[in-house]
Amino acid sequence: MATINQTEQNAEKLAAALAAVKFVKDGDVVGLGTGSTTTFAINELGKCVKDGLKITAAASSIRTEELAISLGIQILDLGSLSEIDISIDGADEFTETLDLIKGGGGALFREKIIASLSKNTIVITDASKKVKKLGAFTVPVEVIPLAYQYVSDQINKLGGKAILRLAGEKHYITDNGNLIIDADFGLIADPQKLSFDLNQINGVLAHGLFVNITSKVIMSEGKDIIIFE
Ligand code: 5RP
Repeated sequence: MATINQTEQNAEKLAAALAAVKFVKDGDVVGLGTGSTTTFAINELGKCVKDGLKITAAASSIRTEELAISLGIQILDLGSLSEIDISIDGADEFTETLDLIKGGGGALFREKIIASLSKNTIVITDASKKVKKLGAFTVPVEVIPLAYQYVSDQINKLGGKAILRLAGEKHYITDNGNLIIDADFGLIADPQKLSFDLNQINGVLAHGLFVNITSKVIMSEGKDIIIFE
């Protein structure tokens, strides 16, 4: 893959976002992810709503909710939903088998709830996010604060290296009031097993391995749109 600059990368993010928004139909409940790529999609959805598209949406973070509301997109209470028609979200890494690492932006828990509720989970990325094996990016793990040392120890026992995420000099705090441990497992041979093992640790609210949950990844590379499904 050729190295590209930030402007070219943003052009890829925008192209993937525009391709994904075409799948949204009148009447849909839309799950909105978090991050720079998803922001392009939310902005486009806002334009469509101004042009008459009728949708409601659920947001995966406070910043996404604020953006959507500012664009005139009606936001529903995520906790009240049994189903979402379509969701659009980004990823930090993905493989051709549609396994992902997410949560670089810290919104992994609500993003996972949205993906779990969604009939059609669309992930949008630029070409830099495609990998043969997950794991160059660390796995974010959202942790109830009083369990952070216990969870860190368990992650280390699983062969990972647990690093508590910081925001400047302070702990990073999620929208849910929790901490994030960024867990470095190196390249991950079996994402499904690691996902299972992390879910077994008391104190883990959610982790950023998204396995068997994505319907399609829309990746933009240069002038091409490539869909993995
Ligand atoms: C936030 C996420 C984002 O989707 C992920 O970090 C990708 O972000 P970006 O589109 O800015 O590269 O999982 O929790």
